[in-house]
Amino acid sequence: MSTVPLIPESAPFSPEQRAWLNGFLAGIFSRAPGGTTSVSPAAAALTPLTILFGSQTGTSESLAKQAAKEAGKRGFAATILDVATVTVEQLPSHSNLLLITSTYGDGEPPDSAKALHSALLAAPASGQLAAVNYSVCSLGDTNYTLFCQAGKDFDSHLEKLGAKRVSPRVDCDVDYEAAFTGWLDSALGSFSSAGATTTAPSSGGSTAAAGHGDEHGSGYSKKNPFPAPVLTVRNLNAAGSAKEVNHVEFDLAGSGLAYEAGDALGVIPQNCPELVSAVIAALGADGEEAISTPEGELPLRKALTQHYDLGKPAPALLDALAIPAETRSTLHHVIDVLRFAPPSTDKSLTQWVSCFRKLQPRLYSISSSPKAHPGQVHLTVGAVRYEVGGLARKGVCSTFLAERALAHGTAGVFVHSNKAFRPPADLAAPMIMVGPGTGIAPFRAFLEERAATNAPGKNWLFFGDQKAATDFLYREELEALKSAGILTRLDLAFSRDQKEKVYVQTRMESAATELFAWLEQGAYFYVCGDASRMAKDVDAALHKVIELAGGKTAGEAAAYIQALKAAKRYQRDVY
Ligand SMILES: Cc1cc2nc3c(=O)[nH]c(=O)nc-3n(C[C@H](O)[C@H](O)[C@H](O)COP(=O)(O)OP(=O)(O)OC[C@H]3O[C@@H](n4cnc5c(N)ncnc54)[C@H](O)[C@@H]3O)c2cc1C
Ligand SMILES: NC(=O)c1ccc[n+]([C@@H]2O[C@H](COP(=O)([O-])OP(=O)(O)OC[C@H]3O[C@@H](n4cnc5c(N)ncnc54)[C@H](OP(=O)(O)O)[C@@H]3O)[C@@H](O)[C@H]2O)c1
Ligand SMILES: Cc1cc2nc3c(=O)[nH]c(=O)nc-3n(C[C@H](O)[C@H](O)[C@H](O)COP(=O)(O)O)c2cc1C
Repeated sequence: MSTVPLIPESAPFSPEQRAWLNGFLAGIFSRAPGGTTSVSPAAAALTPLTILFGSQTGTSESLAKQAAKEAGKRGFAATILDVATVTVEQLPSHSNLLLITSTYGDGEPPDSAKALHSALLAAPASGQLAAVNYSVCSLGDTNYTLFCQAGKDFDSHLEKLGAKRVSPRVDCDVDYEAAFTGWLDSALGSFSSAGATTTAPSSGGSTAAAGHGDEHGSGYSKKNPFPAPVLTVRNLNAAGSAKEVNHVEFDLAGSGLAYEAGDALGVIPQNCPELVSAVIAALGADGEEAISTPEGELPLRKALTQHYDLGKPAPALLDALAIPAETRSTLHHVIDVLRFAPPSTDKSLTQWVSCFRKLQPRLYSISSSPKAHPGQVHLTVGAVRYEVGGLARKGVCSTFLAERALAHGTAGVFVHSNKAFRPPADLAAPMIMVGPGTGIAPFRAFLEERAATNAPGKNWLFFGDQKAATDFLYREELEALKSAGILTRLDLAFSRDQKEKVYVQTRMESAATELFAWLEQGAYFYVCGDASRMAKDVDAALHKVIELAGGKTAGEAAAYIQALKAAKRYQRDVY
């Protein structure tokens, strides 16, 4: 039996019609070989299920697909929908609803979920959604203060409008597989599905373990990363820069890993050897001791180098060491905690280390087009270095790549597909790209892609960084693309070359008339880079440009931008 929607989302049917048709077709496909063409009893019993996803970088979307597969096995006719395509008014037609959403910004929904989120929050309490049975899976990261906030909001506001929560929400941290599988099992079991079986998810892992990013069937994924040879690590800044951005190249030959411009690469980092030694000393150990880990028995030094996060301490460690509440915010990293409260010997090393967080891969926007660099993948990585409490600190992955990856020879990598961030399928459509600092990364890939496909569409890049002399990343390449006519327009904003700050949005506002004209010609608008300040200010500038150059009120400009988003002509890859 087919387990994914048989009627595509693009087909001209309402969600109810699509669910019914999917059930009908699934019934036909499930008939016995040689059987009649009448609908089988199984088809009549299929229960419609809508799986909504709100995703910024594709994880929720990938889990929605896995949920649909599992639901299909249990007798549901599942339809997957991007939450961007659904309004509050349409929700009552989705009688069985699973919502999987991530959280971005400071507790905000992903871009695609903003419209429904705002509409739900603005709606007064009512019984409007009384016909909806639902459950929410919220993806997040406990490093953020507003953990899983978007999922929490959706959950409480669906209930406020009368929807019936059939299974409790789960809030998933970065290691989401087990929580997701458990939630799916319980949520599917809670819907009254006449065709449902009592089968548990096919295996502890199969619902989630196919994992994000192995859609090309290479066999390599987050769970099973490819040990990619490191070909190049080259500093893109000139001497005297306050920044350190590295161009990193990996060899993918023979891996079967494939990616598209717009995707991200997951990199498995290793901790800095000096920091590992400091933690071993603080634990009163020598590093050779064998400890038990989820990866098996390992020497302490190897376990700390490869598997444990020595950055932000987990609450479990603070609790185990009875760190007073008022002191916790002053202890930034694991080493600070261990030095403040040296661990006692009443617990084993295994017990202490089990209080550390698991070391997670980091994502990087891919800065190469596979068409321009077959068999390779390139990244543009800003080294994170700062000082807290008088001690120099280093970002784990960015400095692993900067300092040790080349000598180490390989790094574990996997492709994290990001379908919501792609150059226009219409090669003639104009592109406007705003990518200061490392935000340039995907736009190097987009421009390479446009060159490789002889795309006739115009391309406009806004780039900025601190100083032209030292921080004009990929200067030669960009100038060559401009000379070749591929980069139609390049607007630069070097913030520290003059007294007043000049940012990419300053350039956008100066070019408002032309920018609006490009949008009117069907241009796609892309933003990549810093989420906390730049992306918000660029969004505000875009509103201003549309108001000023388009002669629109604030409300009309907001509606114009909403329409751009709905048409997928405003895409962001921000972090
Ligand atoms: C989809 C996506 C795409 C991305 N693309 C890119 C890219 O193309 N290029 C790129 O360079 N990065 C990119 N990033 C960011 C990247 O994933 C890592 O977050 C980044 O490299 C830092 O990781 P790290 O392991 O070096 O630092 P970590 O060890 O994770 O340390 C970072 C943490 O250090 C702390 N910190 C940092 N600076 C300071 C400070 N000044 N004071 C106090 N604390 C501080 C903060 O808590 C911060 O979260 C992307 C992220 C995402 C989600
Ligand atoms: N979430 C994460 O895990 C993570 C990890 C690493 C980096 N980041 C973010 O990614 C960003 C990218 O770092 P980067 O070094 O490549 O570039 P960056 O810090 O964004 O700097 C690039 C340029 O943008 C300017 N800028 C500063 N504030 C701006 C604003 N509000 N609007 C527009 N431009 C602004 C900078 O100017 P000035 O510096 O002169 O003000 C600089 O000229 C970092 O700022 C960081 O916030 C996030
Ligand atoms: C810039 C940025 C901001 C984030 N903000 C939050 C947050 O406020 N709260 C939270 O719980 N998770 C936060 N996250 C973590 C994401 O929700 C998490 O990585 C999720 O798995 C992403 O799923 P997606 O790929 O479907 O968007 C943030 C991640 C990024 C990169």
